[in-house]
Amino acid sequence: MLGIGDGLTYYLFLKLNKALLETMPHTQTPIDLRSDTFTTPCAAMRRAMADAEVGDDVFGEDPTVNRLQAMLAEQAGHEAGLFFPSGTQSNLVALLAHCQRGDEYIVGQNAHTYRYEAGGAAVLGSIQPQPIEHDADGTISLAKIEAAIKADDVHFAKSKLLALENTIGGKVISSDYIDSARELAVLHGLIFHLDGARVFNAAVAQQADIASITGKFDSVSICLSKGLGAPVGSVLVSSKAVIDEARRWRKMVGGGMRQAGVLAAAGLFALEHNVSRLQQDHEHAQLLVAGLSSIEGLTVIGGTAHTNMVFLSCDNGDGNAFLEFCKARGLLFTGDKVARLVLYKGISAEQVSSAIEIIGDYFDGF
Ligand SMILES: Cc1ncc(COP(=O)(O)O)c(C=O)c1O
Repeated sequence: MLGIGDGLTYYLFLKLNKALLETMPHTQTPIDLRSDTFTTPCAAMRRAMADAEVGDDVFGEDPTVNRLQAMLAEQAGHEAGLFFPSGTQSNLVALLAHCQRGDEYIVGQNAHTYRYEAGGAAVLGSIQPQPIEHDADGTISLAKIEAAIKADDVHFAKSKLLALENTIGGKVISSDYIDSARELAVLHGLIFHLDGARVFNAAVAQQADIASITGKFDSVSICLSKGLGAPVGSVLVSSKAVIDEARRWRKMVGGGMRQAGVLAAAGLFALEHNVSRLQQDHEHAQLLVAGLSSIEGLTVIGGTAHTNMVFLSCDNGDGNAFLEFCKARGLLFTGDKVARLVLYKGISAEQVSSAIEIIGDYFDGF
């Protein structure tokens, strides 16, 4: 039991603690430019999720999931859609649905479907990747693709699919290139798949609707959880036959969810409210480049922003010291040799100005 003396000590302890807290510097929320996957659902999106009508989606009976799949398939110019927990699983299942064991997909060396998906197609599908170096604009040379297509010979894997990514490293792939790549794919009987994780960024940058891009592919994986601001989810769009096949593979890899309507509702909200606002992220990326252009000691790679991304290098080559300095000042980004800064919903123009200031302070030190 506490005595009177103990009570007084405790009271003084609380007073002292409060005074100490008041003298401590205020810790600001970091300006987190690591990725547009750091978007968080706003209050209205959360309400839409809470109010979602749901059913068992493995039985195909979740009305909200069905609505999202149908809406995005239609917008993208495809027959059918399938909801996935992640873009990685959506890309993987597309490859599994299109290719057989011993087939090969041709893909960019830095494409997410090759480099950043843990080798899933090879590990789980025995599908061999044939990676090809990118050109500076993010495309892969058609001549190199053609040279990589294997002859029908027992020594070789069977070239089955060509996978592109748009945007790639924030860069928009031109519609002329897509047309030529499609022509090449058709000529050689290759299936044409797009990792369209950020295809809405490409469409907004080109002031086009997504179907003008996605309609040219046999299948497209579209992410809702990047700049569009949903907490989770991707939709694979394709023909009904491919989506029926993909549904079986999705179940096999554990992507069959039950009352997934609570998640799909966030996707529907994102499509209704967060597409045109991507333009603001692109403008913030331009603002960032404009502010950085007068700072000596750094180079903006390519001299400009690419949709919602900016890439920087330190002229002295010590990217790690730059990253650590900025981190200590509350500015987060990724990459050491080349720093990547990503703009998204939730990053304000004021935060962009603060980011420029912090980066300027680092280079002032030289
Ligand atoms: C281009 C691209 N494709 C696919 C993915 C995979 O998405 P997820 O993180 O939902 O698996 C990402 C993730 O950042 C990505 O950037």
